[in-house]
Amino acid sequence: MANILKTFFTNCAHPRGRMGRVMLRFMNFGHAPLTNWGLSLLSFQDQMTMLDIGCGGGATLQRLLKRSKDAKVYGIDISEESVAKAKKINAEALDKQVFVTQGSAEKLPYDDGMFDVITAVETVYFWPNLPHCLKEVRRVLKPGGRFAIMIEVLDSDSVWTNVVEGMTAYSPDELQKMLNEAGFIQIELHSKKPSYATIIGVNA
Ligand SMILES: C[S@@+](CC[C@H](N)C(=O)[O-])C[C@H]1O[C@@H](n2cnc3c(N)ncnc32)[C@H](O)[C@@H]1O
Repeated sequence: MANILKTFFTNCAHPRGRMGRVMLRFMNFGHAPLTNWGLSLLSFQDQMTMLDIGCGGGATLQRLLKRSKDAKVYGIDISEESVAKAKKINAEALDKQVFVTQGSAEKLPYDDGMFDVITAVETVYFWPNLPHCLKEVRRVLKPGGRFAIMIEVLDSDSVWTNVVEGMTAYSPDELQKMLNEAGFIQIELHSKKPSYATIIGVNA
């Protein structure tokens, strides 16, 4: 039983197969409160170009699209299953306003300075070499563009890090330091009960 649960929760890191599809459905609504709060801390204008890294089942892409008229919203995820689900739930806008690609935060397949806003919801825990990934995020952000990390697992010894293989939890202070070292400026830390945190950095 413990093994089945562990396998199920490991789908948070990389959704695969049937269990992965169940997890994606769960995360699309389960992460709504954190995501909606985190997005409320950013300001949006019309015609923005935005990216959600580790887009999972694609609900954040829909939420971003609603906040900016005539926007273009890109999603990238390492998991084939996530990409399929994100494309499915964004079918109407797909390849017109929403573009979903399989790939990793380590090597983003986008031009320099392409995005106004980049989000990462409940995903930085799984990125290998986070300092390198943060530099890659900066590369594809416009000067003055904003990057928002939204997390709810803050403790490296939490129930989640013990159950999800390959998961590293970072405190908001650690993330602030890493963003600073990657060259982000005007870094803001926001928190909300139960354990939500949003860390926003501006590209210099
Ligand atoms: C816990 S889920 C969160 C999904 C979505 N952001 C949400 O809030 O529902 C983490 C996602 O990050 C993706 N992921 C893990 N490592 C990644 C990487 N190196 N690059 C891009 N995506 C990654 C996983 O495949 C998974 O879909």
